[in-house]
Amino acid sequence: MENKKENKNIDFYIEEIRTAAEEFHINETRPLSYFIRTFGCQQNDNDSEISAGLLEHLGLEAASQIEEADIVIFNTCSVRENADRRFYGHLGNLKTWRSEEKQRRIGVMGCMPGQGTHNKHLKDTFPYIDFLLNAGDMGNLPRALYESRDQSGKHFIVDLTDQPKEMTYPSLPVKRESRHRALISIMSGCNNFCTYCIVPYARGRESSRDPQVIIAEAQAAVDNGAKEIMLIGQNVNSYGNDKRRKGESGFPSFAQLLKEIAQIPDLSVLRYMTSHPKDLSDELIEVIGQYETIEPHVHLPLQSGSTRLLKKMNRRYTAEHYLGLVQKLRAARPEITISTDIIVGFPGETEEDFEATLGLMEAVKFDRAFTFIYSPRSGTPAAEWEQNASDVEIQERFERLLDLQNTHSLESNKTCLDKSIYVLVSGRSKTDEEVFSGRTKDDRLVNFSVPDVSQLENEYAYTARGEAVTTVISEGSEVLVKVTKSKTTSLEGVFERLL
Ligand code: 5AD
Ligand code: SF4
Repeated sequence: MENKKENKNIDFYIEEIRTAAEEFHINETRPLSYFIRTFGCQQNDNDSEISAGLLEHLGLEAASQIEEADIVIFNTCSVRENADRRFYGHLGNLKTWRSEEKQRRIGVMGCMPGQGTHNKHLKDTFPYIDFLLNAGDMGNLPRALYESRDQSGKHFIVDLTDQPKEMTYPSLPVKRESRHRALISIMSGCNNFCTYCIVPYARGRESSRDPQVIIAEAQAAVDNGAKEIMLIGQNVNSYGNDKRRKGESGFPSFAQLLKEIAQIPDLSVLRYMTSHPKDLSDELIEVIGQYETIEPHVHLPLQSGSTRLLKKMNRRYTAEHYLGLVQKLRAARPEITISTDIIVGFPGETEEDFEATLGLMEAVKFDRAFTFIYSPRSGTPAAEWEQNASDVEIQERFERLLDLQNTHSLESNKTCLDKSIYVLVSGRSKTDEEVFSGRTKDDRLVNFSVPDVSQLENEYAYTARGEAVTTVISEGSEVLVKVTKSKTTSLEGVFERLL
């Protein structure tokens, strides 16, 4: 059977798959199930949540283990090489599993399938894959499922990566991973073409979503109990540029959108990422300074502290400009924490360039940093450039960078010692059932223990309904924690009271 590529309306595919899922349920006396394995960034996390919402809308149920599912979907990342390798390992393991039952299917979406080299490699090496979808093209998932059905004869791969994105619905159903935190995508794609980065090739050009749809999604999330909203996009600061360029002069800026959402009653924390230093406007800094609900934290990727290297990276700002932004942000919101991304070993990085990065880190003192060793991505300009430092030198630079950042992270966390701080609880710690985890408004990770009510001050020991407060703490609780220990990547503390 050929992959015919005759595109019907999304509602047609939805109806067909729903009917097929119902028939399966009746015949097999169990629902058709799915499992999504996600790699990479928040954008992928959100795309997986939407895929899950859509699959449940189609009548499928989540399986708790990958091997127990009928439909397995990998949402892939290709930003650095180690994400590729982990994914290919998983895919290889499913070959026998796929052949065992005829309703089983494997789909691959996210940043890999749309890129020529990965697309070919996937098809050649893993011919038992059933369908391929572009990053962010969840709207075509029902079609992919429909066209890849009935694989009992000759197997074929439904490749929808050459098809236009299915955009019929402004909002697709979403099944959120977390009750207390809602990820909301405000735009897709990236126009920046940093010379090391694959994202613009994998996700296409910037496209901003309708502000009214975003605000309605944010309001609905809060109505459903979310305390925290995270607005996501590769470069949120350029929100609306694409629309304004096309003549929609009234389309709001990111600062205006943020301001609007910050005023939703009952929202506790409004987060956003990622900010590009070249587009962080004074208007935005002013809004960050004005609204309590907006997190006192900004993720502002530096990549390098050498202006010479920033130019080669096509970042379009200088080290001085970056420092200027830090000063403005701290003036507008003195308690703000700043996190960053830094790449070590970019082609042509000299010891002098590297020292400029260390110097800028000393000048800023980042509260947290994600540090990466440069990974050549085929198809990007930098992948063609010569590397003058050896692997050993790069590794050594990486460790020096990490040591310096660890010192700064610890210094930053020490400022919280003995203080009582707001924590939004995300759940119990993975390693210790007795310990809860959560995040502060300025995005620090906190692990805290809960004493017996008898050890709490009387007025804080019971809720208005007479329950011991220590028994009602769960995901989404807002609590005050007394910090007892500051570590490099987290704080430890003791629960004081509910907020
Ligand atoms: N190699 C190493 N790090 C990279 N990043 C993006 N592309 C690469 C690459 N090719 C890092 C950048 C970016 C973060 C999400 O990943 O620091 O900000
Ligand atoms: Fe990649 Fe640069 Fe776009 Fe970020 S801004 S996604 S690093 S191209």
